[in-house]
Amino acid sequence: MTWSDMLVNCLVTAGKAIWFFLPAYFANATPVVLGGGTPIDLGKNFLDGRRILGDGKTFRGFFLALAAGTLIGALQQRPFIGFIMSLGAMLGDMAVSFLKRRLGLKRGDPLPVGDQLDFVAGAVALTAPVVSIPLSYVIAIVVVTPPIHLGTNALAYLLKLKDRPW
Ligand code: CTP
Ligand code: MG
Repeated sequence: MTWSDMLVNCLVTAGKAIWFFLPAYFANATPVVLGGGTPIDLGKNFLDGRRILGDGKTFRGFFLALAAGTLIGALQQRPFIGFIMSLGAMLGDMAVSFLKRRLGLKRGDPLPVGDQLDFVAGAVALTAPVVSIPLSYVIAIVVVTPPIHLGTNALAYLLKLKDRPW
């Protein structure tokens, strides 16, 4: 196999992985545009006196993320996987927000790697028991997601959808 064959293989695998995880991508992006309102933690603090999750995790964002991911899954002929994957993405996102608050980080403060891969980790965790995911897809999505995430967040900042560029 030549170097160019290997490059083509990597690009094809990355493309298939993005297609596979598309419901998670849509689930993660939807709340940035359509989220807001009542926070899931209802404004309450944890035992350490800091917010449980913070104002960045809302009911509207959560449910619209599930709806968006399920819709994308339905368009891919697999609504159930879309639903489970989106649920995983949102739980992963919330788990990292919980961790960030415990570390004393305010809503929107950066946690490199965690911020970029929280939803992917959650999506893999909930989807893997339902459908077998090639290991190459998991590796590919972990590699391509951080640059895509940083790029789309910078774009969302320029479009004034986010008040920070990460
Ligand atoms: N969002 C939401 N509901 C959710 C998840 C996200 O409304 N369940 C919205 C919020 O407006 C949030 C934005 O999507 O600010 C981007 O999400 P994220 O980057 O994960 O939140 P942060 O504001 O960075 O907060 P945190 O520090 O908790 O990660
Ligand atoms: Mg987050």
